[in-house]
Amino acid sequence: MSKAIFYYTGSGNSLWVARNLAKELGDTELISIADWKKGNPKIDLDTAGLVFPVHMWGVPPPVIKFTDELKALQPKYLFAVGVNAGALANTLVQLKGVLKKAGLALNSGFSIIMPTNYAPWGGPGTKEEQQRRFDAAGAKIKQIAAYIKAKETRPVEKGPLWQRIVFTPIYHLATPNLAKMDRSFRADEKCNKCGICAKVCPAQNITFNDGKPVWNHKCEQCYACLQWCPQEAIQYGKNTIKYPRYHQPDIQLKDVLKNR
Ligand SMILES: Cc1cc2nc3c(=O)[nH]c(=O)nc-3n(C[C@H](O)[C@H](O)[C@H](O)COP(=O)(O)O)c2cc1C
Repeated sequence: MSKAIFYYTGSGNSLWVARNLAKELGDTELISIADWKKGNPKIDLDTAGLVFPVHMWGVPPPVIKFTDELKALQPKYLFAVGVNAGALANTLVQLKGVLKKAGLALNSGFSIIMPTNYAPWGGPGTKEEQQRRFDAAGAKIKQIAAYIKAKETRPVEKGPLWQRIVFTPIYHLATPNLAKMDRSFRADEKCNKCGICAKVCPAQNITFNDGKPVWNHKCEQCYACLQWCPQEAIQYGKNTIKYPRYHQPDIQLKDVLKNR
Protein backbone atom coordinates (compact mmCIF):
# COMPACT_ATOMS: atom_id res chain seq x y z
CA MET A 1 0.00 0.00 0.00
CA SER A 2 1.48 3.30 -1.01
CA LYS A 3 0.91 7.05 -1.21
CA ALA A 4 0.94 9.13 -4.39
CA ILE A 5 0.29 12.73 -5.40
CA PHE A 6 -0.87 13.30 -8.96
CA TYR A 7 -0.06 16.85 -10.04
CA TYR A 8 -0.76 19.10 -13.00
CA THR A 9 1.23 22.31 -13.41
CA GLY A 10 1.99 25.19 -15.78
CA SER A 11 4.46 27.46 -14.02
CA GLY A 12 5.53 25.08 -11.25
CA ASN A 13 3.38 26.31 -8.33
CA SER A 14 1.40 23.07 -8.10
CA LEU A 15 4.55 20.98 -8.46
CA TRP A 16 6.13 22.98 -5.61
CA VAL A 17 3.04 22.39 -3.43
CA ALA A 18 2.96 18.68 -4.37
CA ARG A 19 6.68 18.29 -3.66
CA ASN A 20 6.51 19.95 -0.25
CA LEU A 21 3.42 18.05 0.73
CA ALA A 22 5.06 14.77 -0.34
CA LYS A 23 8.06 15.65 1.85
CA GLU A 24 5.77 16.26 4.85
CA LEU A 25 3.83 13.03 4.24
CA GLY A 26 6.99 10.97 3.66
CA ASP A 27 7.36 8.03 1.29
CA THR A 28 5.01 9.58 -1.30
CA GLU A 29 5.40 9.20 -5.06
CA LEU A 30 4.96 12.31 -7.25
CA ILE A 31 3.27 11.56 -10.56
CA SER A 32 2.64 14.06 -13.36
CA ILE A 33 -0.91 13.88 -14.74
CA ALA A 34 0.31 15.23 -18.09
CA ASP A 35 2.79 12.39 -18.39
CA TRP A 36 0.52 9.61 -17.13
CA LYS A 37 -0.07 7.08 -19.87
CA LYS A 38 -3.50 5.50 -20.18
CA GLY A 39 -3.36 1.93 -18.94
CA ASN A 40 -0.27 2.48 -16.74
CA PRO A 41 0.16 -0.47 -14.38
CA LYS A 42 -2.19 -0.34 -11.43
CA ILE A 43 -0.67 0.98 -8.20
CA ASP A 44 -2.05 -0.30 -4.91
CA LEU A 45 -2.88 3.06 -3.35
CA ASP A 46 -3.74 3.71 0.25
CA THR A 47 -3.65 7.53 -0.05
CA ALA A 48 -3.86 9.60 -3.22
CA GLY A 49 -3.94 13.35 -3.82
CA LEU A 50 -4.71 15.61 -6.76
CA VAL A 51 -2.75 18.90 -6.77
CA PHE A 52 -3.58 21.29 -9.59
CA PRO A 53 -4.00 24.98 -10.46
CA VAL A 54 -7.44 26.59 -10.41
CA HIS A 55 -8.23 27.66 -13.98
CA MET A 56 -11.09 30.07 -14.68
CA TRP A 57 -12.63 29.42 -11.27
CA GLY A 58 -12.79 25.70 -11.71
CA VAL A 59 -10.99 22.41 -12.33
CA PRO A 60 -8.76 22.25 -15.46
CA PRO A 61 -10.20 19.73 -17.99
CA PRO A 62 -7.07 17.48 -17.98
CA VAL A 63 -7.60 16.96 -14.24
CA ILE A 64 -11.28 16.12 -14.81
CA LYS A 65 -10.24 13.63 -17.49
CA PHE A 66 -7.76 12.04 -15.10
CA THR A 67 -10.55 11.08 -12.67
CA ASP A 68 -11.26 8.10 -14.99
CA GLU A 69 -7.73 6.85 -14.37
CA LEU A 70 -8.07 7.47 -10.65
CA LYS A 71 -11.26 5.43 -10.62
CA ALA A 72 -9.27 2.41 -11.79
CA LEU A 73 -6.78 2.96 -8.93
CA GLN A 74 -9.46 3.14 -6.17
CA PRO A 75 -7.40 4.86 -3.44
CA LYS A 76 -8.64 4.33 0.11
CA TYR A 77 -8.17 8.00 1.12
CA LEU A 78 -8.41 10.80 -1.45
CA PHE A 79 -7.55 14.48 -1.03
CA ALA A 80 -7.18 17.46 -3.37
CA VAL A 81 -5.37 20.79 -3.30
CA GLY A 82 -6.59 23.63 -5.53
CA VAL A 83 -3.59 25.92 -6.03
CA ASN A 84 -4.88 29.39 -6.81
CA ALA A 85 -4.17 33.10 -6.73
CA GLY A 86 -7.01 34.07 -4.38
CA ALA A 87 -10.14 33.03 -6.28
CA LEU A 88 -10.84 29.38 -5.43
CA ALA A 89 -14.57 29.88 -6.08
CA ASN A 90 -16.40 26.54 -6.37
CA THR A 91 -13.44 24.50 -7.66
CA LEU A 92 -13.25 21.86 -4.94
CA VAL A 93 -17.02 21.45 -4.72
CA GLN A 94 -17.01 20.91 -8.50
CA LEU A 95 -14.21 18.34 -8.17
CA LYS A 96 -16.05 16.53 -5.39
CA GLY A 97 -19.09 16.23 -7.70
CA VAL A 98 -17.00 14.96 -10.64
CA LEU A 99 -15.34 12.35 -8.41
CA LYS A 100 -18.67 11.29 -6.93
CA LYS A 101 -19.97 10.60 -10.46
CA ALA A 102 -16.88 8.41 -10.98
CA GLY A 103 -17.71 6.54 -7.77
CA LEU A 104 -14.94 8.15 -5.72
CA ALA A 105 -15.27 10.01 -2.42
CA LEU A 106 -13.14 13.12 -1.93
CA ASN A 107 -12.19 12.95 1.75
CA SER A 108 -10.72 16.44 1.97
CA GLY A 109 -9.99 19.44 -0.25
CA PHE A 110 -7.73 22.39 0.48
CA SER A 111 -6.90 25.79 -1.02
CA ILE A 112 -3.33 27.05 -1.30
CA ILE A 113 -2.68 30.60 -2.52
CA MET A 114 0.41 31.16 -4.67
CA PRO A 115 1.46 33.96 -7.09
CA THR A 116 -0.63 34.25 -10.24
CA ASN A 117 0.61 32.93 -13.57
CA TYR A 118 -2.33 34.36 -15.52
CA ALA A 119 -0.16 36.80 -17.44
CA PRO A 120 -2.86 38.74 -19.35
CA TRP A 121 -4.09 40.22 -16.06
CA GLY A 122 -0.71 41.24 -14.66
CA GLY A 123 2.47 39.96 -13.08
CA PRO A 124 2.98 37.72 -10.04
CA GLY A 125 3.67 40.61 -7.60
CA THR A 126 6.97 41.76 -6.09
CA LYS A 127 9.52 39.22 -4.81
CA GLU A 128 8.45 40.15 -1.25
CA GLU A 129 4.77 39.54 -2.04
CA GLN A 130 5.65 36.22 -3.67
CA GLN A 131 7.75 35.21 -0.65
CA ARG A 132 4.86 36.02 1.72
CA ARG A 133 2.66 33.63 -0.29
CA PHE A 134 5.35 30.90 -0.27
CA ASP A 135 5.75 31.25 3.51
CA ALA A 136 2.00 31.08 4.14
CA ALA A 137 1.71 28.14 1.73
CA GLY A 138 4.56 26.30 3.50
CA ALA A 139 2.80 26.68 6.86
CA LYS A 140 -0.53 25.51 5.42
CA ILE A 141 1.10 22.50 3.75
CA LYS A 142 2.25 21.30 7.22
CA GLN A 143 -1.30 21.64 8.53
CA ILE A 144 -2.76 19.82 5.50
CA ALA A 145 -0.22 17.01 5.91
CA ALA A 146 -1.36 16.49 9.50
CA TYR A 147 -5.00 16.13 8.36
CA ILE A 148 -4.00 13.68 5.62
CA LYS A 149 -1.81 11.60 7.92
CA ALA A 150 -4.75 11.33 10.32
CA LYS A 151 -6.97 10.44 7.29
CA GLU A 152 -9.47 13.08 8.38
CA THR A 153 -12.66 13.47 6.37
CA ARG A 154 -13.41 17.20 6.25
CA PRO A 155 -15.62 19.53 4.21
CA VAL A 156 -13.79 20.82 1.12
CA GLU A 157 -12.74 24.48 1.23
CA LYS A 158 -14.83 26.96 -0.77
CA GLY A 159 -14.36 30.51 -2.00
CA PRO A 160 -16.79 33.19 -0.75
CA LEU A 161 -20.41 32.88 -1.92
CA TRP A 162 -20.12 35.87 -4.32
CA GLN A 163 -17.22 34.17 -6.14
CA ARG A 164 -19.18 30.96 -6.49
CA ILE A 165 -22.27 32.79 -7.80
CA VAL A 166 -20.45 35.14 -10.19
CA PHE A 167 -17.61 32.98 -11.51
CA THR A 168 -18.92 29.41 -11.70
CA PRO A 169 -21.18 30.16 -14.72
CA ILE A 170 -18.20 31.81 -16.48
CA TYR A 171 -16.15 28.60 -16.01
CA HIS A 172 -18.90 26.57 -17.68
CA LEU A 173 -19.18 29.06 -20.56
CA ALA A 174 -15.43 29.43 -21.11
CA THR A 175 -14.18 25.87 -20.69
CA PRO A 176 -15.62 24.38 -23.90
CA ASN A 177 -13.71 27.08 -25.85
CA LEU A 178 -10.41 26.66 -24.02
CA ALA A 179 -8.62 24.67 -26.72
CA LYS A 180 -9.13 27.40 -29.30
CA MET A 181 -8.23 30.28 -27.01
CA ASP A 182 -4.63 29.74 -28.11
CA ARG A 183 -5.42 31.97 -31.12
CA SER A 184 -4.20 34.86 -28.98
CA PHE A 185 -0.70 33.36 -28.45
CA ARG A 186 2.15 34.51 -30.69
CA ALA A 187 5.94 34.59 -30.64
CA ASP A 188 7.41 38.05 -31.12
CA GLU A 189 10.74 39.07 -32.69
CA LYS A 190 12.68 37.94 -29.56
CA CYS A 191 11.95 34.26 -30.44
CA ASN A 192 15.25 32.49 -31.17
CA LYS A 193 13.52 29.25 -32.22
CA CYS A 194 14.86 27.27 -29.21
CA GLY A 195 11.74 25.05 -29.10
CA ILE A 196 11.34 25.03 -25.30
CA CYS A 197 7.70 26.18 -25.64
CA ALA A 198 6.82 22.94 -27.46
CA LYS A 199 8.77 20.74 -25.03
CA VAL A 200 7.09 22.24 -21.98
CA CYS A 201 3.53 22.07 -23.38
CA PRO A 202 1.56 19.30 -21.58
CA ALA A 203 -0.89 19.08 -24.52
CA GLN A 204 1.75 18.77 -27.26
CA ASN A 205 -0.09 21.65 -28.89
CA ILE A 206 2.91 23.50 -30.36
CA THR A 207 4.56 22.74 -33.69
CA PHE A 208 6.88 24.91 -35.78
CA ASN A 209 6.65 26.80 -39.02
CA ASP A 210 10.07 27.98 -40.17
CA GLY A 211 11.29 27.45 -36.58
CA LYS A 212 8.62 29.70 -35.05
CA PRO A 213 5.92 28.22 -32.77
CA VAL A 214 2.42 27.54 -34.05
CA TRP A 215 -0.44 26.75 -31.61
CA ASN A 216 -2.73 24.00 -32.91
CA HIS A 217 -5.95 24.56 -30.93
CA LYS A 218 -5.51 21.75 -28.39
CA CYS A 219 -4.48 24.28 -25.75
CA GLU A 220 -5.07 23.61 -22.04
CA GLN A 221 -4.37 27.29 -21.11
CA CYS A 222 -1.71 26.35 -18.55
CA TYR A 223 0.63 29.18 -19.69
CA ALA A 224 3.74 26.99 -19.49
CA CYS A 225 4.82 28.09 -23.00
CA LEU A 226 4.62 31.77 -22.13
CA GLN A 227 6.06 31.54 -18.62
CA TRP A 228 9.03 29.25 -19.41
CA CYS A 229 10.14 30.95 -22.65
CA PRO A 230 13.74 32.01 -21.86
CA GLN A 231 13.50 34.93 -24.30
CA GLU A 232 10.13 36.16 -22.94
CA ALA A 233 9.12 36.12 -26.59
CA ILE A 234 5.66 34.56 -26.20
CA GLN A 235 2.77 36.96 -25.86
CA TYR A 236 -0.95 36.48 -25.29
CA GLY A 237 -3.12 39.31 -26.61
CA LYS A 238 -1.94 42.86 -26.13
CA ASN A 239 -1.05 43.07 -22.45
CA THR A 240 1.52 40.38 -21.62
CA ILE A 241 4.37 42.41 -23.18
CA LYS A 242 4.00 44.80 -20.18
CA TYR A 243 4.26 42.18 -17.45
CA PRO A 244 7.16 40.16 -15.98
CA ARG A 245 7.28 36.38 -16.47
CA TYR A 246 6.92 33.96 -13.57
CA HIS A 247 7.73 30.44 -12.59
CA GLN A 248 8.02 29.09 -9.06
CA PRO A 249 11.66 29.89 -8.20
CA ASP A 250 12.46 26.47 -6.63
CA ILE A 251 11.17 24.65 -9.71
CA GLN A 252 13.46 24.38 -12.70
CA LEU A 253 12.65 23.80 -16.32
CA LYS A 254 14.14 20.30 -16.11
CA ASP A 255 11.66 19.41 -13.33
CA VAL A 256 8.74 20.23 -15.62
CA LEU A 257 10.34 18.59 -18.66
CA LYS A 258 11.36 15.45 -16.78
CA ASN A 259 9.05 12.95 -18.48
CA ARG A 260 7.90 14.92 -21.52
C1 LIG B 1 -5.92 30.18 -17.62
C2 LIG B 1 -5.71 30.49 -16.16
C3 LIG B 1 -6.81 30.71 -15.37
C4 LIG B 1 -6.64 31.00 -14.01
N1 LIG B 1 -7.77 31.15 -13.24
C5 LIG B 1 -7.64 31.38 -11.91
C6 LIG B 1 -8.79 31.47 -11.07
O1 LIG B 1 -9.91 31.30 -11.51
N2 LIG B 1 -8.60 31.73 -9.76
C7 LIG B 1 -7.35 31.92 -9.23
O2 LIG B 1 -7.25 32.18 -8.04
N3 LIG B 1 -6.24 31.79 -9.99
C8 LIG B 1 -6.36 31.53 -11.31
N4 LIG B 1 -5.22 31.38 -12.10
C9 LIG B 1 -3.91 31.45 -11.44
C10 LIG B 1 -3.37 30.06 -11.10
O3 LIG B 1 -4.37 29.23 -10.56
C11 LIG B 1 -2.23 30.15 -10.09
O4 LIG B 1 -1.26 31.06 -10.45
C12 LIG B 1 -1.61 28.76 -9.88
O5 LIG B 1 -0.80 28.83 -8.75
C13 LIG B 1 -0.77 28.30 -11.05
O6 LIG B 1 -0.25 27.03 -10.78
P1 LIG B 1 0.78 26.25 -11.71
O7 LIG B 1 2.06 27.06 -11.70
O8 LIG B 1 0.95 24.96 -11.05
O9 LIG B 1 0.17 26.17 -13.06
C14 LIG B 1 -5.35 31.08 -13.45
C15 LIG B 1 -4.24 30.85 -14.26
C16 LIG B 1 -4.41 30.54 -15.60
C17 LIG B 1 -3.20 30.29 -16.46
